[in-house]
Amino acid sequence: MSTYTRRRLSDAPFLAAATGATPSRRPVWFMRMAGRSLPEYRELRKRVGMLESCFDPELVCEFTMQPVRRHGVDAAILFSDIVVPLKAAGIDLDIVPGVGPVIASPVRDVADVRALPRLRPEEVGAVAEGVRLLTAALGDIPLIGFAGAPFTLASYLIEGGPSKNHERTKAMMHADPQTWHALLGALTDITIVFLRAQLAAGVDAIQLFDSWAGALSLADYRRFVLPHSERVFAEVADAGVPRIHFGIGTGELLGAMGEAGADVVGVDWRVPLTEAVRRVGPGKALQGNLDPAVLFAGPEVIRAETRRIVGEADEAITMGATGHIFNLGHGVLPDTDPGVLTELVGYIHEL
Ligand code: CP3
Repeated sequence: MSTYTRRRLSDAPFLAAATGATPSRRPVWFMRMAGRSLPEYRELRKRVGMLESCFDPELVCEFTMQPVRRHGVDAAILFSDIVVPLKAAGIDLDIVPGVGPVIASPVRDVADVRALPRLRPEEVGAVAEGVRLLTAALGDIPLIGFAGAPFTLASYLIEGGPSKNHERTKAMMHADPQTWHALLGALTDITIVFLRAQLAAGVDAIQLFDSWAGALSLADYRRFVLPHSERVFAEVADAGVPRIHFGIGTGELLGAMGEAGADVVGVDWRVPLTEAVRRVGPGKALQGNLDPAVLFAGPEVIRAETRRIVGEADEAITMGATGHIFNLGHGVLPDTDPGVLTELVGYIHEL
């Protein structure tokens, strides 16, 4: 018996597509659909900081609901951030507008790793409360919870902020594998506590973002990252909800990322879904993969690209994929016209 109770949403197209059933329509949602592309978000955020918002259950609920109300998407994604569990555990960090997460004291050696705090579930109680408000507010729309994967969190902690080349991260990985695995083990524990808190509060699916894993070779990914991501997925399996795994530029890693234990593999725009299914293998659903920059190219281009992706997704299903969830290949860009997203949702539902 699962220790989790959640809403029964067996007819939701998003959950049907994620679990190999036949959805009543093609489900669509967008990564980073909440936030800066929405004027109603920018208005409320004038008075409150990003991280502060993530620990305010009412704001978590409101910011999660904004894109759902506006666009008519088939799933909501919890308003939070991948660094929220690190902040909750007591790591000194901030999210700097236009930059991203910035860590006050980067993790550079074994002493820093040993000093990392653990996360206690009550430290993310505000997030869990936000989830509870949402399960009431969302009606029959599923709620996706999420976390950053251990590698992506490690990169922020080691580099101290966003990084193009991840050189310090890769240096630790190769030069001091023991410290590396201790760090990833600690981050895996934090990620599991964070996801389990969301699951206990009622999220209907989870997505693990390994946003920067695409910087790794397949061999390094398998040796230094996969065992930890695998443990995350294994430790949340008992909830029985769909598990999605996504990273940007991960074309070469798609098979291994599926092996980590995902039911759904997210694909960016660089790899067509017909090729993604070959790399992932049969038995999993695919999510993606419209280039977010295409949303700036006008309605005709957007519709043509959408038809191409839907066609490739249907072909991928004949090749063994168990379903398709329409999404972008990465998050909504801040300058995106939200009207274009609403229009796109309508078009996908019409097709
Ligand atoms: O709509 C949603 O997707 C829900 C919320 C969400 C946020 N961050 C809110 C946010 C999600 C799913 C994330 C995940 C996240 N955060 C990832 C993984 C996904 C990806 O993009 O690959 C990563 C790498 C982060 C780290 C992070 N946080 C970055 C790179 C940034 C952007 C920094 C900037 O200002 O350009 C953030 C900040 C952030 N996270 C914002 C939002 C709405 C913008 C902050 C603001 O409004 O001031």
